[in-house]
Amino acid sequence: MKKNILLLCGGGGTEHEVSLVSSKFIQQNLIDIGLYNVIKVEICKDKVFRVVNADDSYGDVVTLNFNRQLVGLKTIDIHIAVPCIHGPPGETGEIQTFFELTNLPYVGCGPEASLNSFNKVTSKLWFNALEIPNTPFEFLTDMEDKKRAYDLFDRYGKIFVKAASQGSSVGCYQVFTKAELDQALINAFQYSSYVLVEKMVNARELEISTYEYDGAIIATVPGEIHCPSKFYSYEEKYNPNSKTTTEIVAPELPKEAIEKMRAYAIKAFSHLKLRHLSRIDFFYTDEGEIFLNEINTFPGMTPISMFPKMMENNGHSFKKFFKDIIAKNIL
Ligand SMILES: Nc1ncnc2c1ncn2[C@@H]1O[C@H](COP(=O)(O)OP(=O)(O)O)[C@@H](O)[C@H]1O
Ligand SMILES: [Mg+2]
Repeated sequence: MKKNILLLCGGGGTEHEVSLVSSKFIQQNLIDIGLYNVIKVEICKDKVFRVVNADDSYGDVVTLNFNRQLVGLKTIDIHIAVPCIHGPPGETGEIQTFFELTNLPYVGCGPEASLNSFNKVTSKLWFNALEIPNTPFEFLTDMEDKKRAYDLFDRYGKIFVKAASQGSSVGCYQVFTKAELDQALINAFQYSSYVLVEKMVNARELEISTYEYDGAIIATVPGEIHCPSKFYSYEEKYNPNSKTTTEIVAPELPKEAIEKMRAYAIKAFSHLKLRHLSRIDFFYTDEGEIFLNEINTFPGMTPISMFPKMMENNGHSFKKFFKDIIAKNIL
């Protein structure tokens, strides 16, 4: 009997649609491996779990119970879960907490590593503790703290204001004048209870696939996002008319800078206790400084996403990567 894999997608957050696209890539790879039954379930925007059929139509409404069973018209034992969700409740660690509670094995980072990486304040506190360079910042827990944001603005002249617990550039604002600052803070607080303010840098945007393969933590050479507007906004990320392009291998980077970034990626992966896969994003400034920007604990796997391509370019098969993780963890 083939074992049953629960491929979860959606989640209802700002990256819901992206996750549906990523899940197709993973589903196809799992089908190609040929060893399992893949049951795809979308966590829909109304928070209801629905089976997704091969033709993308919805099937049963289901629930996942404490006995590791998917319950709908039938009851199916689940042997491992793949939470292909960007943003909540996947990258925020909530779904993994449930898996832990029910002893259901799963692919990817645990709840703590997910949440620590997703929260933009917590992650920067970690980077500082690990002595991994990142952009100078302050954080606010309410508007009463706003002097700290004004002081940071006075220091740097242009800053980014970011809701702490958001992805896809939602709740993320460029601030070039003092007059814009209050509104940016108010807007960011609409999304999160903590707000990060940080120095805006002129930099290239680089990404490193960082993952476990044959028992080692691997960091690829950086790929590059070329975003003409210099702000990789929600529109630039997901609008079909986006002017942004990507390169699997960032050109003309000093060897020393590449090696530093790879070392920081591996340091972050091991100390934040990431597991299986991640994409770690950097800024490489015009002055040659390296800053770790953020960690994505379930990177995008859409046709334009770099995570699987950087892995393949590094000589590692995405199918073998997935097959090995499943073999090691499945019930
Ligand atoms: N400090 C910064 N200086 C310059 N650009 C930045 C800075 N922070 C963010 N950006 C721009 O905003 C985008 C989104 O910010 P990021 O922190 O990656 O949030 P998200 O989690 O939403 O992707 C980045 O890809 C980059 O284009
Ligand atoms: Mg980002």
